[in-house]
Amino acid sequence: MNGHKAPRPRWVSALIGNWVGIFGLVLAMGSLFAALCLIAIDFFTGSRQPYMGILIFLIVPSFFWIGLIFAGVGLWLELRRRKKLTAAEARVEASGGRRTRQLVAALACVFLVLMLSALGSYRAFEVTESSQFCGALCHVMKPEYTTYKISPHSRVRCAECHIGPGASWFVRSKISGLYQVYATVTDKYPRPIPVPVQDLRPAPETCEQCHWPAKFYGWLELRRQFFLPDKQNTPWNIRLLVYVGGAIATKGPVGGIHWHMNVSNRMEYIATDESRQIIPWVRVTNRETGAVTVYQSKDNPLTPQQETLPMRVLDCVDCHNRPTHTFDSPYSALDVSMWMGRIDPSIPYIKMKAAEALVKASGADSQASGIAQIAQNLSKEYSDYKDQPKIEQAVSETQRIFQDNFFPEMKTDWKVRPNNIGHYIWPGCFRCHDGSHVDKTGRAISNECNTCHIITAQGGQPKPETVSLQGLKFDHPGGEIPSEILCSQCHTGAP
Ligand code: HEC
Ligand code: HEC
Ligand code: HEC
Ligand code: HEC
Ligand code: HEC
Ligand code: HEC
Repeated sequence: MNGHKAPRPRWVSALIGNWVGIFGLVLAMGSLFAALCLIAIDFFTGSRQPYMGILIFLIVPSFFWIGLIFAGVGLWLELRRRKKLTAAEARVEASGGRRTRQLVAALACVFLVLMLSALGSYRAFEVTESSQFCGALCHVMKPEYTTYKISPHSRVRCAECHIGPGASWFVRSKISGLYQVYATVTDKYPRPIPVPVQDLRPAPETCEQCHWPAKFYGWLELRRQFFLPDKQNTPWNIRLLVYVGGAIATKGPVGGIHWHMNVSNRMEYIATDESRQIIPWVRVTNRETGAVTVYQSKDNPLTPQQETLPMRVLDCVDCHNRPTHTFDSPYSALDVSMWMGRIDPSIPYIKMKAAEALVKASGADSQASGIAQIAQNLSKEYSDYKDQPKIEQAVSETQRIFQDNFFPEMKTDWKVRPNNIGHYIWPGCFRCHDGSHVDKTGRAISNECNTCHIITAQGGQPKPETVSLQGLKFDHPGGEIPSEILCSQCHTGAP
C-alpha cells in the first residue's frame, strides 16, 4: 500500500462496467417494460382471456429476475476487478473514454430491447387471445376443443363464453388461468375435468351479449330420425314443434320454454349433487307481483342438512349446458350417420354392433388404440358380409364418431357430460318437470307432454307420414311406458 486510497466504487458506473452487468440491466428493464405494455394492452383492449396472466405474472417476471441476477453478478465481478486496480489505474479509468463508450452502448441496447419488447408483447397478446391457444396448446382441453370446433359456436372465442368483460372477472380469470397452468405442468388436473364449471360467468354477461332475451319467440321444429337397435335397424322418425316462447311482453306473449329466463320471473333452485342433476327444491318469484311459489319433490324432499346447500339462480347454462362441447352418445351419433347415409342401414344389426364397438373402445388407454379396436371388432363381426366396401365405410364413420366424441386419455365422453336440453338420455327438463315437484297446494310443475312441444309426425319410414298440428299422442316404439319411470332410466344412449 502506498498510502493513497483507491476511489470508492460507484454503484451505477460499476453496474455498466462490464458486459454481464449491462446484459442483466437491459434484460431487467426490457421485461419490466414488456410487463407494463402487456398490462396496458390488456386493460385498454378489454381483453377477456385468462392466459395473459401467465405472461404478465409468470413468464415476463422470470426474465426480470434473470436480468437482476445477471446485473448482480456483473456488479460483483466489476467491483472485484476494481479492487485489484492501483490508484493510478483507477484514476485513468475514471477520466477515460471506456466508461462513456459503455454507457452509450448500454443506452442503445436498452432502446432496442424496449422497442422489441413492445412489439413482442403485442404479438404475445394476439397469440394468447386466440381459441387455438386455449384449446390446442393445452392437451387437457382436447375434448372441449375438438367438440367446440364442430359446434355452432366454433367461431365464438373461448373467452367470449368463459370470461366476459369487467374488472373483477378479469382478475379472477387471470388467477384461475395461472392455477390451470400450474395444474397442467405438474399433472395435478383431474380427469375428466369436473363440471359444472364453478366460475363460469353469469349468462347475462356472456350468452346474452349475443342472444338477447327479447329476441326469442314462437316455435321451433325439430326433426329426429331414430333407428331401433334391431336386426333391420328399423327406422323411426319424430317431428316436434318445440315451444321456445318468449320472455318479454312487448315482443309477444310471455310463455313457453324461455319463460324461465329471468326476465319476468326469477327462478332459484337447490341441487343436491355436484353436477346439478338432482333438484329437490325450486322457488319462483314473479318479478311484477312479487308472488313466491316453492316447489318441493315429493319423492325426494330436502333433508335438513341439505337446506343449507347453496342456492343457484337458473340461467341459460342450466338448460344449455352443452351449447358447444356436445359429446354425443353412441346411439345419437349413429342415428345421424345412418340418417345421412354415411352408414348403410341395410347392414344387419349395424347400429347395435357399432354402438357396442364404441362403448368397448371408450375403455382403451388412448384415442389411437380405441380407433384401432373399432376396426378390429367390426371387421371381425362382419367378415362374412357380402359387401365389404360398405363395411369399410361403416368402420371409418364409426372411427370418426369416436374421434369427435370419445377421449379416453381424459376419461371424457357422453357418460360424464350430461346434456340438460330435453329428457331422453339425461333427466334434463325432468329434473323439475317430473310430475312429483309440488307447491303447498299440491299443484305439480307440469309434466304434460304438450307443455313443451307437440309431436306433429311419428312412425316408421314405409308408412306415409301424417302431419298433425293438433299434436299426436306419443307412440312409443318400445311399447307403453309406465308413467312413473323417466325416459332416461331406460335410455342411456348405448346398449
Ligand atoms: C358458446 C359458449 C362457449 C364457448 C365458445 C366455449 N365454451 Fe367451454 N363451456 C361452455 C359451457 C356452457 C360449459 C359447461 C358449463 C357447465 O356445465 O358448468 C363449458 C365447459 C367447458 C369446460 C369444462 C368441461 C366441460 O366439457 O364441461 C372446459 C375445459 C371448456 N369449456 C373449455 C373451453 C375451451 C378451451 C373453449 C375454446 C376452444 C371453450 N370452452 C369455448 C361454453 C362455451
Ligand atoms: C359471440 C356471440 C355468441 C355468444 C357469446 C354465444 N352465442 Fe350462441 N350462437 C351464436 C351464433 C352466431 C349462433 C348461430 C350459429 C349457427 O346458426 O350456426 C349461435 C347459436 C346458438 C344456439 C342454437 C344452436 C343450434 O344448434 O343451432 C344456442 C342454443 C345457443 N347459441 C346458445 C348459447 C348459449 C347458452 C351461450 C352462452 C353460454 C351462447 N350461445 C353464447 C353466437 C353466440
Ligand atoms: C328452461 C330451459 C332453458 C333456458 C333457461 C334457456 N333455454 Fe334456450 N332453449 C331451450 C330449449 C328447450 C330450446 C329449443 C331447442 C332445442 O330443443 O334444442 C331452446 C332454444 C334456444 C335457442 C335456439 C332458438 C331458435 O329459435 O333457433 C337459443 C339461441 C337459445 N335457446 C338461447 C338461450 C339463451 C341465451 C338463454 C339464456 C338467456 C336460454 N336459451 C335459456 C331451453 C332453455
Ligand atoms: C329448476 C327446475 C326447472 C327446470 C330444470 C326446468 N323447468 Fe320448466 N318450469 C319450472 C317451473 C317451476 C315452472 C312453473 C310451473 C308452473 O307454473 O306450472 C316451469 C314452467 C315451464 C313451462 C311453462 C311456462 C308457461 O308458459 O307458463 C315450460 C314450457 C317449461 N317449463 C319448459 C321447460 C323445458 C323445456 C325445460 C328443459 C329444457 C325445463 N322447463 C326445465 C321449473 C323448471
Ligand atoms: C318440460 C318440457 C317437456 C316435457 C314435459 C316433455 N318434453 Fe319431450 N322434449 C322436450 C324438449 C326440450 C325436447 C327437445 C330436446 C332436444 O333438443 O334434443 C324434447 C324431445 C322429445 C322427444 C325427441 C327425443 C329426442 O330427445 O331427440 C320425444 C320423443 C319427446 N320429447 C317425447 C315426450 C313425451 C312422450 C313427453 C310426455 C311424457 C314429453 N316429451 C314431455 C321437452 C319436454
Ligand atoms: C321402461 C323402459 C323405457 C322407458 C321408460 C322409455 N323407453 Fe323408449 N324405448 C324402450 C325400448 C325397450 C325401446 C325399443 C328399442 C330399444 O331397445 O331401444 C324404446 C325405443 C324408443 C325410441 C326409438 C329409438 C330407439 O332408441 O330405440 C324412442 C325415440 C324412445 N324410445 C323414446 C322414449 C321417450 C321420449 C321416453 C320418455 C317419455 C321413453 N322412450 C321411455 C324403453 C323405454
